[in-house]
Amino acid sequence: MSDTKAPCAGSCPIDRARFLRSAAVAALAGIGGAALLADPAFAQSVDSVVPTRSQGKVLTYAVPAKEGALIDAGNGVVVARVKNTVYALSITCPHRAVTTLEWMPDAREFHCPKHDAHFQSDGELIDGRPDRAMDRYAVRRSGKTIMVDTAAILQQDTEQDAWSRAAVTVA
Ligand code: FES
Repeated sequence: MSDTKAPCAGSCPIDRARFLRSAAVAALAGIGGAALLADPAFAQSVDSVVPTRSQGKVLTYAVPAKEGALIDAGNGVVVARVKNTVYALSITCPHRAVTTLEWMPDAREFHCPKHDAHFQSDGELIDGRPDRAMDRYAVRRSGKTIMVDTAAILQQDTEQDAWSRAAVTVA
């Protein structure tokens, strides 16, 4: 059964329909440390990641080396690099806070399977029922890492300025 396959080690583009379950399996299997980079043949990568450090609600991740989405399923955080900008996004759909979004690597967007909404890789809403973009976490850069404050979740509609600033430049 494909859901029980061993997670890939080191490099693995994940099937779009199952990436979250695969990410969760990888996290449960203890694959962690630095970001696991996907196949370089993909312009946008997706893979699982766990924080290199946790201090209360502040999670530290290595700066993604390339464009794509790194999924921390355990904490519900997506570390998304779009060109030279990194965002920390909530993996939960802003329409209903119980639905987990999927990353569609070919389309380079997030998808909500519940009501078929779509979001850009930086979290901006493309279409669908939500009335706002994906929520972002406050993020700052510290050397070769980024620090994500999961206590500071920002909603585009109510905290527009802070939401817009919730990004770091990495190059
Ligand atoms: S729960 Fe995601 S669009 Fe409705």
